[in-house]
Amino acid sequence: MQDLLPRQKEIYRYIEDVVRVVLESYGYTEIGVPVLESTQLFSRLVGEATDIVEKEMYTFEDRNGDSLTMRPEGTAGVVRMGQENGLLFNQIQRFWYAGPMFRHERPQKGRYRQFEQVGAECFGMAGPDIDAELLFMCQRIWETLGISDEIHLELNSMGTTESRAAYRSELVNYLEEHRDGLDKDSMRRLETNPLRILDSKVPKTQELLASAPTLTDFLDAESKMHFDQLRRLLDQNQLFYHINPSIVRGLDYYNKTVFEWVTDSLGAQGTVCGGGRYDGLVEQVGGKSMPGVGFAMGLDRLAMMLDDKFESTADADIYIASLGEPARAYALLLAEDIRGNLAHGKVVVHCAEGKLKSQMKKADASGANIALIIGEEEISKREVTVKDLQTGEQQSLNAEAVIDHLSKMLEE
Ligand code: HAM
Repeated sequence: MQDLLPRQKEIYRYIEDVVRVVLESYGYTEIGVPVLESTQLFSRLVGEATDIVEKEMYTFEDRNGDSLTMRPEGTAGVVRMGQENGLLFNQIQRFWYAGPMFRHERPQKGRYRQFEQVGAECFGMAGPDIDAELLFMCQRIWETLGISDEIHLELNSMGTTESRAAYRSELVNYLEEHRDGLDKDSMRRLETNPLRILDSKVPKTQELLASAPTLTDFLDAESKMHFDQLRRLLDQNQLFYHINPSIVRGLDYYNKTVFEWVTDSLGAQGTVCGGGRYDGLVEQVGGKSMPGVGFAMGLDRLAMMLDDKFESTADADIYIASLGEPARAYALLLAEDIRGNLAHGKVVVHCAEGKLKSQMKKADASGANIALIIGEEEISKREVTVKDLQTGEQQSLNAEAVIDHLSKMLEE
């Protein structure tokens, strides 16, 4: 679990602000769901045989003996929330959320045990148009963040539960015949979750998979039509994608469309956003059948991509230095006055003792362009010395004239 230092946190906030503006411009509304849910919710909705449920959840018994889990992802909680609050039946909804998720994975660059996601979940829309809208929205976010050149879209269709079952048995037959070539993990998955073998990074297994039957050949007519229509919508909007039949996602709830946005610039953990359709999920929490589709993006990974491009806006604009007790008290009052009267601008007061020279060093380090200096002489004359830290020019101004002068300097 990583600590977020000031610059990192600023980047996270910047990304979240960009995402918020884009999502709201598509009519998405923000919701909040708890960090803790009943363990059963995740094991049922995410799937007993997934890596997440099998070995990555932070699960504990609370004081009542109830088994709780720190959310490893957002979709299950959003579906529960929507169902419990009557927000789904016969309604069309577009939600978004942001917050920390928890998975006990092996940590490495871009993979943490606490990580931040921003997600979008839509309900009540069965057609491919909403799938396309979600992808356009992602593309707009990458463009606004200035990283669209480094991210591409991988797309697949997982069909219906029935078509997947037919494919699953063909795949198992094929892999059983080539059992000797499988790695240990894939061998285990052959019993529990064979589709996940498609995701294997082991070269020998990948070789075997190259001649395995593909899910695409088993798609039912409706899924095929949905996928073709989606592709047409993406083509019309010139959103480029790569069809990748091995995108099966690590969660069990998907059907039809699945996708991942991937970058080559982060090494092994290159998936910055993943999602897809989950039409059967609302029924699983006791609701009426209700189509759903969504995605979640990993803020930690996006922040890493922005790190060398991001320009901090955390710098101060005005730094107030003071010498002597009366001047220190006045500095605080003046700062309040400035904040109350200027439309924008960051004002930092030197709240400590210190020689003028060391205070001016702090002023430089704060990034401020303007320093205000108040000493005993200034106090007695009711004046403030205003120093332009870029040019070094300084002048003494009457206390009443300072705010007007500052607002002009900040506008320049
Ligand atoms: P996911 O693919 O498990 O999907 O996670 C989505 C994104 O979260 C990943 O693409 C990645 O950027 C980020 N992420 C996942 N695990 C970690 C980690 N350990 N460290 C850092 N970042 C990570 C879901 O969670 C689904 N709920 C997405 C969804 C929403 N599908 C439909 N609606």
